[in-house]
Amino acid sequence: MSTNPHVLSAQGVVAGYSSHPSLRGISLSMSKGAPAIGVTGASGVGKSTLVHALSGRLKPRSGRVTFDGKAVSRLRLGEKKRFEALVRTVAQNGFFGLDSSLTVRRVVETELRLARKVGRGSGQSIEDVLAEMFLEPRFIDRRIHTLSGGERQRLTIALALVTNPEILILDEPTTALDSSLKDKVSHHLRDIVHERQIGLVVLSHDMNLLSRLTPTVHVLADGEFVETGSPRDLLIDPQHPATTDIAQAYPEAVRALRTLED
Ligand SMILES: Nc1ncnc2c1ncn2[C@@H]1O[C@H](COP(=O)(O)OP(=O)(O)OP(=O)(O)O)[C@@H](O)[C@H]1O
Ligand SMILES: [Mg+2]
Repeated sequence: MSTNPHVLSAQGVVAGYSSHPSLRGISLSMSKGAPAIGVTGASGVGKSTLVHALSGRLKPRSGRVTFDGKAVSRLRLGEKKRFEALVRTVAQNGFFGLDSSLTVRRVVETELRLARKVGRGSGQSIEDVLAEMFLEPRFIDRRIHTLSGGERQRLTIALALVTNPEILILDEPTTALDSSLKDKVSHHLRDIVHERQIGLVVLSHDMNLLSRLTPTVHVLADGEFVETGSPRDLLIDPQHPATTDIAQAYPEAVRALRTLED
């Protein structure tokens, strides 16, 4: 078996939904065991567009997104299944293309089957999968559309973990959670990512979340990464106007960081 980790790589990606593409030259790469990367930026700046490009759902107009050198938007069926098991994406608003009239049991079973099919099964039960994200067994026979936003969000993360991915891409993973669950989920995610050496990419406007999960954050503005740094540096010493705008939304965090360092 090859010991080289699989690499997801974006090179000079230009992509978007209008004649003025949201992404105009984005590059990043991720693999199992690599330090986590955060991407932040104002609403509508293109974070989810980047997720769509990284997951192969949106073909770049120029530049490339590759997995082990192959364009992800052009993978053949077998390769695509394997890619989707190794590189899991949790969409901002629930599930990509999933029928929400299905039960939780059904969607978890489908994931467990996929995991076995691609040789990444772990013998987990449905209960184990749900417990990973603090969902009790009582949810098993519920239909997806009856779940609350936060329950659904936790289910999508739990499903993404079933195939034991090498790379996990999370788009605003905790927006629907109250602050206590946000803490629980983010701490647990940090532990899981560390234990399993998962290459994590988190896209979020929430700098508190990013400071828990990602040592390095890129600030997306005007189609590009305009600044990159630790969450701490971006908050207390922003260089680009877009970063300054973000830091201004966290006066308490900035004050706390400054006090700590005085
Ligand atoms: N399917 C689509 N069709 C047309 N335009 C789209 C589509 N998806 C996104 N857009 C537009 O592309 C731009 C970037 O959207 P995107 O969802 O990537 O932003 P975002 O940074 O994720 O925002 P948010 O923080 O609100 O989630 C926005 O102007 C949005 O309206
Ligand atoms: Mg978004």
